[in-house]
Amino acid sequence: MPHRRRRSCSLVVIALLAIGSFSSSASGDDAPDPQAGTRDLEAGARLWERCAVCHGADGAGRPDGTFPKIAGQHASVIERQIAAIRSGDRSNPVMKPHVEGLADVRDVGDVAAFIAAMPRDPVCQVGPGDDLDLGDRLYRGSCATCHGEAGQGDAAEQVPWMACQHYAYLLRRARQFASFGRSAHPTTEPPLAEWNDAELRAVMDHAARLSAEVTAGGAERTKIGEAR
Ligand code: HEC
Ligand code: HEC
Repeated sequence: MPHRRRRSCSLVVIALLAIGSFSSSASGDDAPDPQAGTRDLEAGARLWERCAVCHGADGAGRPDGTFPKIAGQHASVIERQIAAIRSGDRSNPVMKPHVEGLADVRDVGDVAAFIAAMPRDPVCQVGPGDDLDLGDRLYRGSCATCHGEAGQGDAAEQVPWMACQHYAYLLRRARQFASFGRSAHPTTEPPLAEWNDAELRAVMDHAARLSAEVTAGGAERTKIGEAR
């Protein structure tokens, strides 16, 4: 039994290494991780098992937004999130016990590298689509500088990609930022707290529809309608 498991694990790692090098040459905007050569992807794959319980075996999270997609997220973003949850800067009581179990910085780097190399889920759960012009305008005006014109985020600045992230998750986070005030989002701009709920819905619906680096053939979009 343990043999079979180890074998399939290394096959996954080999497959991911192949995909990882393909997508980094295809997308071009991810600065190479200077630590990449020192990451142990097999160790990362074993650690991933404890994340898969919630984030899904394929790292696609849940369309209802309870668990975000993380497969293919920038390693730097994953490392930052884990550090923030461990230190209490970001409150996530559900996930906290699971990341406290990671032994050290090395484990965090290994699991982050493994997740970053996983292929992204190409099915995009988007919002109702009833005010995309407004969403586009707000996004370009206030969010694109950091989150990217195509929603690709910024690995060097630890900004997550939002293209094809679950709309329900994005909206939930944006509403949190808006109600917790400025300190919740890493920037004092944009003033999310001053936006009304229709504006938050519009901007997040637009972001979820962006298609940075999703698949060569473009993303399949599954409309799930308006989340409460
Ligand atoms: C018990 C469930 C659970 C487990 C296990 C879990 N997570 Fe999470 N994770 C969550 C939830 C819930 C959120 C969203 C929290 C929020 O909305 O603030 C989240 C958010 C995240 C985020 C932030 C994503 C983003 O785009 O900001 C990252 C990165 C992440 N998890 C990585 C991991 C890793 C790595 C592991 C394994 C070591 C893990 N999680 C294990 C529940 C879990
Ligand atoms: C100055 C840079 C900057 C700008 C401008 C910015 N963000 Fe962010 N945003 C970040 C960073 C960095 C994070 C990750 C930090 C964190 O979650 O703790 C983030 C995280 C988020 C998240 C959580 C996504 C996830 O995957 O967890 C949402 C939602 C979000 N931003 C919405 C917005 C919206 C909407 C705008 C425009 C109105 C915006 N941001 C503008 C830097 C920025």
